[in-house]
Amino acid sequence: MSSSDLAATARSLVAPGKGILAADESTGTMTKRLDGIGVASSEATRRAYRGMLFETPGMEQHISGVILYDETIRQQADDGRAFPDLLASRGVLPGIKVDSGAKALAGHPGETVTEGLDGLRERLAEYRGLGARFAKWRAVIAIGPGLPSPACLETNAHALARYAALCQEAGLVPIVEPEVLMDGAHDLDRCETVTTETLGLQFEALRAQGVQLEGMLLKPNMVISGTQAPTRAGVAEVAAATLRCFRRVVPAAVPGIVFLSGGQSDLEATEHLDAMNRMGPHPWQLSFSYGRALQAPALAAWAGKAENRETAQRIFAHRAACNGAARDGRWTRSMEQMG
Ligand code: 13P
Repeated sequence: MSSSDLAATARSLVAPGKGILAADESTGTMTKRLDGIGVASSEATRRAYRGMLFETPGMEQHISGVILYDETIRQQADDGRAFPDLLASRGVLPGIKVDSGAKALAGHPGETVTEGLDGLRERLAEYRGLGARFAKWRAVIAIGPGLPSPACLETNAHALARYAALCQEAGLVPIVEPEVLMDGAHDLDRCETVTTETLGLQFEALRAQGVQLEGMLLKPNMVISGTQAPTRAGVAEVAAATLRCFRRVVPAAVPGIVFLSGGQSDLEATEHLDAMNRMGPHPWQLSFSYGRALQAPALAAWAGKAENRETAQRIFAHRAACNGAARDGRWTRSMEQMG
């Protein structure tokens, strides 16, 4: 794939009114989510849940791409079509999570390095053959006393940059996700400092590895107060701090920034995205790649029962529509009422 094809794919993932559904929970995480609604996790229940989401009528109006997990990219819808084919037939680009998880970073208690580089070239070729057009790798950065360490930031930035270079070689658009966690009592300023440092080092590493910025997407956290902070910054403050941080460290050549929701409520994630887009224009498209903030209410409504399938799909389509509007800075509170 040429570099202009990669750039075109990256741009189509952040097309107006659209963003990405992250449905790439590992089996462990998906099991936790299903436990939460009283459903036993099995290959069959995970397939039934994902199939419900992917067959949602009208989803393609607001969802440009779906990030799949290794198990999911090999599963089929009820009509026998492979999930990537089903998505592609509706104009939704299939993506794939390719890291193998965050593992304890030696010598650095409380910190992790995301692994998965060994054999990655071969796995990317296989995923491309299964229909993937883009990929995701998530690094996790914790804020705490003395954290993050330079070693954690540098190691993760390096791994993400090597992953991104391999993706582009394989014809896949890399989503580069260095997530600074919301966990902790830190304030907005501390999150801004750590996010700025994290992203600054990330773009240095991407440059060092020769990654073409036009053919990638950045998936960052928003600059936000820690979940246990005594007072939490409001929507306008979060939006302003996040944009200030990005203007300092995210090159304009990057076509899009697709946020993770990271534990924000559905409504917070939508409001923050809308507020930032209303403060535009920006050099990059600002969109979403939400997991929990897109799925949580639909998952609860589905509850593992076939008779709830259509209700859950309507709820998912509604969240996608609200975020599609926020992605253009035209969400209103009245849109939250489902018709
Ligand atoms: P959340 O939106 O639930 O944070 O998930 C997005 C994601 O893909 C994290 O890697």
